[in-house]
Amino acid sequence: MRYFVTGGAGYVGAHACKALAGAGHEVVVFDNLSTGHREAVKWGDLVVGDLLDRECIKRAIEDTRPDGVLHFAALAYVGESVHRPDLYYRTNIAGTQNLLDAMRLADVTRIVVSSTCATYGTPAEMPISETTPQVPVNPYGRTKLVMETMLRDYCSAFGFGAIALRYFNAAGADTAGEIGEDHTPETHLIPLVLQAAAGLLPNVKIFGNDYPTADGTAVRDYVHVTDLADAHVKALDICASGHFKAFNLGAGIGTSVMDICMAAERVTGQKIYIEMVPCRAGDPPILYADPALAATELGWTPRQSDLDTILATAWAWMQSAHPGAGKGRRTDHADSQAEHMN
Ligand SMILES: NC(=O)c1ccc[n+]([C@@H]2O[C@H](COP(=O)([O-])OP(=O)(O)OC[C@H]3O[C@@H](n4cnc5c(N)ncnc54)[C@H](O)[C@@H]3O)[C@@H](O)[C@H]2O)c1
Repeated sequence: MRYFVTGGAGYVGAHACKALAGAGHEVVVFDNLSTGHREAVKWGDLVVGDLLDRECIKRAIEDTRPDGVLHFAALAYVGESVHRPDLYYRTNIAGTQNLLDAMRLADVTRIVVSSTCATYGTPAEMPISETTPQVPVNPYGRTKLVMETMLRDYCSAFGFGAIALRYFNAAGADTAGEIGEDHTPETHLIPLVLQAAAGLLPNVKIFGNDYPTADGTAVRDYVHVTDLADAHVKALDICASGHFKAFNLGAGIGTSVMDICMAAERVTGQKIYIEMVPCRAGDPPILYADPALAATELGWTPRQSDLDTILATAWAWMQSAHPGAGKGRRTDHADSQAEHMN
């Protein structure tokens, strides 16, 4: 099969391209390289283009004639979405609609999209299942919920078969070290902790140690990016015309910020300096998934999502990207602003 991958030069998208190629599929990546990297496109052709350019996306789909689409391209910084909701609504909603309309014109109806646990907001009950009410608390989460709603409507009206995969916190790197996480600015906790271990940051800021959790720090669900990639290959197989379906992709385990810091010290053999700062408004104390539906209906279980594998693969990637990491420490004060929800 030939698959069209928007955002395939980005973190999760590139790992999915590797999984698709490994399953024997042909891949065409469509990406504007705004946060992605040309070097990460190793398993297929790259079309440099923007989802907001309707003609460009229409032409790329027509030329590719894919059997289906994986849609990763989006803006995905929670904090930025609060200050620039205009950009988020445009890319995540208008951009997605341009893609769906280009697919319609070319008679392509199978699609798997990246959604997020941020569509659930701050639910009172854990774990979070697919029936937990979706009440997002920031513009990023709201754009992803609108995207899901739009897909449902395209499924009933136009016979699309769509799967939304609601990731919890993507983490880790390709086990063979070919690709990894490279965001600028980096807001994800694990790379920031590892940058502190490597001496690229003086410390890690922990936002709040008085949450109602075992050690007082926020608890999240970390899922290995390779496991996420595998779920996409499986999801493409079960897209059924006229049906929309959503799955939570998480390890089903709550891990605290302090657990991450301690495990990172063990895995890297480096001391990690911590700065405690007050918690941020709207940051929920605990979020973790119930991944049971993905297990029964998708046949997906996370295989690499134990904390040590996540940290070891991310550390190996960081060391290859920054030779000498961990051998000397910076002493100036760079900032490390971790976002805990994706
Ligand atoms: N990383 C996580 O923990 C996480 C968690 C939940 C959901 N998600 C979702 O997964 C998807 C991928 O996330 P990621 O961490 O790999 O992000 P990323 O920024 O690494 O990848 C996004 C890719 O989309 C491209 N892109 C952005 N706007 C575009 C446009 N208008 N036209 C064409 N290409 C465009 C970027 O250049 C980049 O390559 C996103 O939809 C994100 O919302 C990520």
